[in-house]
Amino acid sequence: MTQDELKALVGQAALAEVVPGSVVGVGTGSTVNCFIDALATMRDRITGAISSSVKSTERLQALGIPVLDANEVESIPVYIDGADEIDHRGHMVKGGGAALTREKIIADLADRFVCIADASKLVDTLGRFPLPVEVIPMAAAQVARRFRRCYGGEATVREGVVTDNGNLILDVRGLTISDPPAMEAEVNQWPGVVTMGVFARHKASVCLLGTPEGVKTLRF
Ligand code: 5RP
Repeated sequence: MTQDELKALVGQAALAEVVPGSVVGVGTGSTVNCFIDALATMRDRITGAISSSVKSTERLQALGIPVLDANEVESIPVYIDGADEIDHRGHMVKGGGAALTREKIIADLADRFVCIADASKLVDTLGRFPLPVEVIPMAAAQVARRFRRCYGGEATVREGVVTDNGNLILDVRGLTISDPPAMEAEVNQWPGVVTMGVFARHKASVCLLGTPEGVKTLRF
């Protein structure tokens, strides 16, 4: 099976996680696009969606799925999103699509985070994928220097990318993230960091992993 076929498989499988009659949280990326397409088949059985990016919003609306503002809900039962990496404890690196801030906000509203990913995303230790960090533009160089000093990581500004919130993305290479909760807590304190791409506090509750043998369910 190709990677695209595995993404389609988990996108379809995620429908079983959607609670009928509820608002569903929707992430961003190519795997989520497969989920959005599948979700259109049950659009009459959900109240609507909360979306983590302009791109996902456009896709949802084009398929006739109402998109609500996050401020309209107190909580949602399920948030469904992909990941750039996920470890065996459900910690993730996210933000390859530059939508990490809104993704973390929706994950915070959700009772459960359902990660959908193809098998290439499962890793023993996070850090091979460059860690995305959304920063206020004037802090980019300072945050990059601090990554080098504190973690030995090399941060570069992602060229040509401005987030939906008007900020920059740093991609940090050369990290070995052995303690994801500690690193997330530390980097969150740095002035100018809007959101860092480790999702440890808001880790996955479950991962639907697309493998050549079918969808495996990992619970954390
Ligand atoms: C976007 C994300 C995505 O979930 C992540 O990049 C995975 O994307 P894809 O499904 O295209 O591999 O965090 O900000």
